[in-house]
Amino acid sequence: MTQEIVLHYKTSDGTVHTVDARVGDSIMDTAIKNDIDDVVAECGGSLICATCHVYLDEQSAALFDEPDDFELEMLEGVASERREHSRLSCQLIIKPELAGHTIETPERQ
Ligand code: FES
Repeated sequence: MTQEIVLHYKTSDGTVHTVDARVGDSIMDTAIKNDIDDVVAECGGSLICATCHVYLDEQSAALFDEPDDFELEMLEGVASERREHSRLSCQLIIKPELAGHTIETPERQ
C-alpha cells in the first residue's frame, strides 16, 4: 500500500500549499502533480536542467544524503540565489520522516 504524508510548499509569493505526497515519489514530481508552478522541471528529472531548484530548511536537509557531484554541478547554474540547503527536487525522494515539512521554492527557475 502506498504511504502518503502531508507536505507543504511555500512558493515565492509567500503562499503555502499543503498537499498529499506519496512516499517514494520525488519532491519535484509531487510539485508538478499539484500545480506548484514555481517548480518547472524541464528535463523531467534527468538532472540536466536545474529548473527544479528548491530550498530546504535545516531539519529537512538533514533527512537526505548530501548532493552528489552531478547535482552539485547543476546547482552551479540555478537561476535564483543559491542557498546553503539549495537542492534539485528531482533528486529528493519523499520519505515518511518528511511529513509536515515545508519546501520553499525560489523566485525563478
Ligand atoms: S527536473 Fe531537471 S534537474 Fe531536476
